[in-house]
Amino acid sequence: MSKKILITGGAGFIGSHVVRLFVNQYPDYTIINLDALTYAGNLENLKDVESKSNYRFVKADILKTEELERVFAEYAITDIIHLAAESHVDRSIVSPLDFVYTNIIGTVNLLNIARKQWALDYSKHLFYHISTDEVFGSLGETGFFTETTAYDPRSPYSASKASSDHFVRAYHETYRLQTIVSNCSNNYGPNHFPEKLVPLFIHNIIEKKPLPVYGDGLYTRDWLYVKDHARAIDQIFHKGQPGGTYNIGGFNEWRNIDLVKLLCKLMDEKLGRQSGESEELITYVKDRPGHDRRYAIDATKIKQELGWEPSVTFEEGLSETIDWYLTNKEWLQHVTSGAYQHYYQSMYVNR
Ligand code: NAD
Ligand code: DAU
Repeated sequence: MSKKILITGGAGFIGSHVVRLFVNQYPDYTIINLDALTYAGNLENLKDVESKSNYRFVKADILKTEELERVFAEYAITDIIHLAAESHVDRSIVSPLDFVYTNIIGTVNLLNIARKQWALDYSKHLFYHISTDEVFGSLGETGFFTETTAYDPRSPYSASKASSDHFVRAYHETYRLQTIVSNCSNNYGPNHFPEKLVPLFIHNIIEKKPLPVYGDGLYTRDWLYVKDHARAIDQIFHKGQPGGTYNIGGFNEWRNIDLVKLLCKLMDEKLGRQSGESEELITYVKDRPGHDRRYAIDATKIKQELGWEPSVTFEEGLSETIDWYLTNKEWLQHVTSGAYQHYYQSMYVNR
């Protein structure tokens, strides 16, 4: 059977890389990108695939049952890869309810449709839910998150993602819907909206604006190139164990301040600026409330079971990412005009 895969959130950062990979790699599948085009969704991310015959875009909201039913009826969807979400921790601190609606209720809405539409034979279909390592909480100096680490979410964002993960598992146990959940570490790469650390700082370095480092800057994240995440999603979708979960990470921990200094160094070189010039933009600002100290993924299971591992080093991935932003200034200009200015003012000015 030729698959008709609904990818939700396909106009966002990670979703657009997943859509591109599936459209190009699987010409026999039909890829239906469903996205509400919130501030984070941008069809410019997919210009290179929009005319492909196996690609469709539907503007729809996962909170609207009738819109989802229409898409299922029109395309006879066989599988779902669910990425649509509110994804920024700082926004979740300002507006937690938006995260409850989209991340929890939106996911349950999709699960309900899948449960109803696939009831004839669940074994032929897969509901693959894309989640985050933040559901596991915060680590001390040592240790890693594994697939059996207990959930301990600490921000409204991670609480909403944890809740959605639980619902996905519950639909597997209760209704035998075939589901998989993967929990990934911090992604970076092209098409990343400049509210997150890496693209925000690249943008600010270009503009010679302050680089707002939260707290003492010693918070640690495990960084993975977005195209490697998309490759992992492909492997898990095709070869993962239904009912299972997979952790995806880069084995690539960086303290924020070290990452920022590396970014400054690479950008000074690429922009022909004096060595050390961009570092002078570093400004320590008020910390994020409830800021998780350290995330680190143990990605042994996916490596052993599915043979996946990251394909690029951090320096290579970061260098490619900077090059992408420097050659796509128009993309950056488009997404940082209008509503973005208001967001930036309220989040950073007088922080
Ligand atoms: P993003 O914010 O860039 O994109 C989210 C997309 O979802 C946007 O295109 C947006 O328009 C769409 N969307 C939002 N609400 C919607 C709704 N109600 N109906 C339909 N579409 C809607 O997010 P991202 O960084 O690409 O993250 C994608 C997924 O991966 C999320 O589920 C996130 O939790 C997860 N994740 C992200 C990271 C990361 O580092 N960015 C790491 C691990 C997991
Ligand atoms: O771990 C996976 C998660 O990674 C995803 O689930 C989230 O969707 C994604 O946004 C990301 O969450 P983080 O909170 O880790 O990412 P962010 O880029 O917002 O911040 C990375 C680190 O940098 C974090 O310790 C906070 C810090 N930071 C962030 C911003 C935006 C700053 O110091 N200054 C900033 O301006």
